[in-house]
Amino acid sequence: MILQTEYRQRREQLMMKIGNGTALFCSAPVAVMHNDVEYNFRQDSDFFYLTGFNEPEAVAVLAPHHPEHRFVLFVQPKDWEKEVWSGYRTGVDAAKEKLGADAVYPITELDEKLPQYLEKANRIYYHLGRDRNFNHTILKHWQQLMRTYPKRGTGPMAIESTNPIMQAMRQVKSAAELEMMRKAVAISVDAHNHVMQFAKPGRYEYEIQAELEHIFRLRGALGPAYPSIVASGANSCILHYVENNQQMQEGDLLLIDAGCTYEYYNADITRTFPISGKFTPEQKILYELVLKAQLAAIAQVKPGNPYNQIHDTAVRILVQGLMDLGLLAGDIEEIIKEEKYKPFYMHRTGHWLGLDVHDAGIYKCGEQAWQTLQTNQVLTVEPGLYIGFETKPVEGQPEINDRWRGIGIRIEDDVLVTESGHEVLTAGVPKLVEEMEQ
Ligand code: GLY
Ligand code: MN
Ligand code: MN
Repeated sequence: MILQTEYRQRREQLMMKIGNGTALFCSAPVAVMHNDVEYNFRQDSDFFYLTGFNEPEAVAVLAPHHPEHRFVLFVQPKDWEKEVWSGYRTGVDAAKEKLGADAVYPITELDEKLPQYLEKANRIYYHLGRDRNFNHTILKHWQQLMRTYPKRGTGPMAIESTNPIMQAMRQVKSAAELEMMRKAVAISVDAHNHVMQFAKPGRYEYEIQAELEHIFRLRGALGPAYPSIVASGANSCILHYVENNQQMQEGDLLLIDAGCTYEYYNADITRTFPISGKFTPEQKILYELVLKAQLAAIAQVKPGNPYNQIHDTAVRILVQGLMDLGLLAGDIEEIIKEEKYKPFYMHRTGHWLGLDVHDAGIYKCGEQAWQTLQTNQVLTVEPGLYIGFETKPVEGQPEINDRWRGIGIRIEDDVLVTESGHEVLTAGVPKLVEEMEQ
């Protein structure tokens, strides 16, 4: 559980960075599924990170220069007739106490109350978000303040994105956040281990999905962190295959990319295994190659190492392996530089993981310099190889022998950067060849 004190610390940290500016964060929009039916509400991650508040139609204002109200919230007011339809609201009075705001107003008073927190700010910090109405409201206020600036002599001269500040903050996880992530990982690990036993020829991909997601929900997760990918046979060559409607056949590989979201923190795991218990020789060769690349890439996860070293390590091993198999030919440096391996490996080797599956976090500082890894960052390491029936080599590269076609493999773990190196949080799901052949 993340305590109010931690949310307050985060706000203080942000306020230190914005000086005489005012930062604004808006809740996520309510997403429509169809007609007047809505998806479950999913809060905006930055807004949630700073407030822990999980309702729509809310705005958080951080004004470190304001004499009394440094943290202000606008929320939906209590309204029983509306709550009967769309759920309980915290309301103005309870929000003040529960969320530690200096002032709380009904969202209906935003236009009236917001200017007092912007007038003396030298800058507005705001990241144009998914909610166009909020974007419009903020721009409208800014325009108004610019108009009245000459008479007042103060006011924000620019709007600056909050993204760089939030990315720097969110990319390093606190002890409480890591606890949530370990919980998401533990549930996801159990779900993967269960379906590895459950999968067999004749079952449908959606049966596997149902088992996974049943365990997620049964164990208190909100649900899948992203649409579960259950891809058998050649479907494994489609990176975001989500139809999950095919019957699994003897001899197929099954690629499962699934993880749950627990208190908004996510796990993201991929395993690929032979559903009938034995790899074909070609499947095994490619699997061992991806595993070798993944283990070597994970070994690069330690504080101080540049982020790209993980990807570069995986690519070099995959390319060398593909050359040994006659699937690539030529000079290894040139193949890597010109990305001639891309028909087989078209994505990067991982991403930050946290409140978002593709989490906030900096990858590059300027054009050349990669971010160096820091203790308590969490990232995925997920190399793969995909040789579909339609895969074409780049010009000048060897023809693809049919024996390799229809094979897609990815192995994905969630890795914590520790002081001395790393911890594979998802190590509880097997991945060695002999463990997958059962
Ligand atoms: N499942 C999404 C990803 O692996 O990035
Ligand atoms: Mn991933
Ligand atoms: Mn994944």
